[in-house]
Amino acid sequence: LASIEVDVSAVEEGQSITVKWRGKPVFIRNRTETEVEEAKAVPVADLKDPLARNANLPADAQATDPNRGVAGQENWLVQVGICTHLGCVPIGDSGDFGGWFCPCHGSHYDTAGRIRKGPAPENLLIPPLEFASDSTIKIG
Ligand code: FES
Repeated sequence: LASIEVDVSAVEEGQSITVKWRGKPVFIRNRTETEVEEAKAVPVADLKDPLARNANLPADAQATDPNRGVAGQENWLVQVGICTHLGCVPIGDSGDFGGWFCPCHGSHYDTAGRIRKGPAPENLLIPPLEFASDSTIKIG
Protein backbone atom coordinates (compact mmCIF):
# COMPACT_ATOMS: atom_id res chain seq x y z
CA LEU A 1 0.00 0.00 0.00
CA ALA A 2 1.30 3.42 -0.91
CA SER A 3 -0.49 5.15 1.91
CA ILE A 4 -2.19 4.16 5.15
CA GLU A 5 -4.63 5.84 7.49
CA VAL A 6 -4.11 5.40 11.20
CA ASP A 7 -6.73 6.12 13.85
CA VAL A 8 -4.82 7.78 16.69
CA SER A 9 -7.81 8.61 18.90
CA ALA A 10 -6.74 6.05 21.52
CA VAL A 11 -3.13 7.24 21.70
CA GLU A 12 -3.00 9.34 24.84
CA GLU A 13 -0.45 11.95 25.76
CA GLY A 14 2.86 10.29 26.51
CA GLN A 15 1.98 7.19 24.49
CA SER A 16 3.31 5.84 21.21
CA ILE A 17 2.22 3.29 18.69
CA THR A 18 4.16 1.66 15.89
CA VAL A 19 2.54 0.97 12.54
CA LYS A 20 3.89 -0.49 9.33
CA TRP A 21 4.17 1.62 6.21
CA ARG A 22 5.79 0.25 3.07
CA GLY A 23 7.28 -2.52 5.16
CA LYS A 24 8.91 -0.10 7.58
CA PRO A 25 8.03 0.63 11.19
CA VAL A 26 6.64 4.11 11.73
CA PHE A 27 6.57 5.54 15.24
CA ILE A 28 3.61 7.75 16.08
CA ARG A 29 3.93 9.54 19.39
CA ASN A 30 1.57 11.86 21.21
CA ARG A 31 4.22 13.90 22.98
CA THR A 32 3.84 15.43 26.40
CA GLU A 33 4.12 19.17 26.81
CA THR A 34 7.44 18.64 28.56
CA GLU A 35 8.81 16.66 25.63
CA VAL A 36 7.82 19.41 23.22
CA GLU A 37 9.26 22.13 25.46
CA GLU A 38 12.54 20.24 25.84
CA ALA A 39 12.84 19.84 22.09
CA LYS A 40 12.01 23.48 21.46
CA ALA A 41 14.66 24.64 23.90
CA VAL A 42 17.51 23.12 21.86
CA PRO A 43 19.24 25.56 19.48
CA VAL A 44 19.64 24.19 15.96
CA ALA A 45 23.36 25.01 16.27
CA ASP A 46 23.65 22.30 18.94
CA LEU A 47 22.31 19.60 16.63
CA LYS A 48 24.49 17.10 14.86
CA ASP A 49 22.08 17.12 11.92
CA PRO A 50 20.61 20.62 11.43
CA LEU A 51 18.11 19.52 8.77
CA ALA A 52 14.49 18.68 9.52
CA ARG A 53 14.48 15.52 7.34
CA ASN A 54 10.77 16.07 6.97
CA ALA A 55 9.30 14.88 3.66
CA ASN A 56 6.54 17.48 4.06
CA LEU A 57 8.95 20.41 4.02
CA PRO A 58 11.68 21.67 1.68
CA ALA A 59 14.91 19.68 1.88
CA ASP A 60 16.76 22.59 3.49
CA ALA A 61 14.24 23.15 6.30
CA GLN A 62 15.95 23.43 9.68
CA ALA A 63 15.50 20.83 12.40
CA THR A 64 13.53 23.06 14.77
CA ASP A 65 10.89 21.31 16.81
CA PRO A 66 7.95 22.76 14.82
CA ASN A 67 9.61 21.51 11.64
CA ARG A 68 9.73 18.02 13.09
CA GLY A 69 6.22 17.84 14.50
CA VAL A 70 2.98 17.69 12.56
CA ALA A 71 1.98 21.15 11.29
CA GLY A 72 -0.66 22.65 13.56
CA GLN A 73 -0.54 19.62 15.90
CA GLU A 74 2.89 19.95 17.39
CA ASN A 75 2.39 17.31 20.06
CA TRP A 76 2.34 14.63 17.36
CA LEU A 77 5.62 13.22 16.11
CA VAL A 78 5.55 10.70 13.27
CA GLN A 79 8.80 9.20 12.06
CA VAL A 80 10.21 6.19 10.29
CA GLY A 81 11.53 3.94 13.05
CA ILE A 82 14.79 3.05 11.38
CA CYS A 83 18.09 4.23 12.81
CA THR A 84 19.94 6.35 10.27
CA HIS A 85 23.19 4.62 11.12
CA LEU A 86 22.77 1.04 9.91
CA GLY A 87 19.05 0.51 10.07
CA CYS A 88 18.21 -1.02 13.45
CA VAL A 89 14.92 -0.14 15.11
CA PRO A 90 15.44 2.31 17.99
CA ILE A 91 13.69 1.85 21.34
CA GLY A 92 11.30 4.53 22.57
CA ASP A 93 11.29 6.31 25.94
CA SER A 94 14.98 5.75 26.33
CA GLY A 95 18.41 7.17 25.77
CA ASP A 96 20.17 10.19 27.24
CA PHE A 97 17.82 12.69 25.61
CA GLY A 98 14.44 11.23 26.58
CA GLY A 99 13.55 10.12 23.07
CA TRP A 100 14.78 7.00 21.32
CA PHE A 101 17.85 4.87 21.75
CA CYS A 102 19.35 2.54 19.19
CA PRO A 103 21.02 -0.34 21.01
CA CYS A 104 22.95 -1.58 17.98
CA HIS A 105 25.76 0.96 18.29
CA GLY A 106 24.44 3.47 20.80
CA SER A 107 22.68 6.32 19.01
CA HIS A 108 20.58 8.65 21.13
CA TYR A 109 17.70 10.62 19.62
CA ASP A 110 15.84 13.40 21.43
CA THR A 111 12.12 14.01 21.93
CA ALA A 112 11.91 15.38 18.39
CA GLY A 113 13.70 12.32 16.95
CA ARG A 114 16.89 14.27 16.29
CA ILE A 115 20.24 12.53 16.58
CA ARG A 116 22.08 13.91 19.59
CA LYS A 117 24.80 11.37 20.39
CA GLY A 118 26.28 8.27 18.80
CA PRO A 119 27.18 7.24 15.26
CA ALA A 120 23.91 7.91 13.43
CA PRO A 121 24.42 10.73 10.92
CA GLU A 122 20.86 11.98 10.47
CA ASN A 123 17.65 12.69 12.33
CA LEU A 124 14.94 10.06 12.06
CA LEU A 125 13.06 10.52 8.79
CA ILE A 126 9.59 12.04 8.82
CA PRO A 127 7.39 10.48 6.12
CA PRO A 128 4.82 12.31 3.99
CA LEU A 129 1.77 12.73 6.22
CA GLU A 130 -1.28 14.76 7.08
CA PHE A 131 -4.22 14.68 9.43
CA ALA A 132 -7.06 13.25 7.33
CA SER A 133 -9.48 14.00 10.18
CA ASP A 134 -9.14 15.13 13.81
CA SER A 135 -8.02 11.69 14.86
CA THR A 136 -6.72 10.06 11.69
CA ILE A 137 -3.22 10.44 10.34
CA LYS A 138 -2.62 9.57 6.72
CA ILE A 139 0.93 8.44 6.02
CA GLY A 140 2.30 8.29 2.50
FE1 FES B 1 21.56 2.39 15.19
FE2 FES B 1 24.05 1.67 14.49
S1 FES B 1 22.17 1.03 13.64
S2 FES B 1 23.43 2.97 16.10
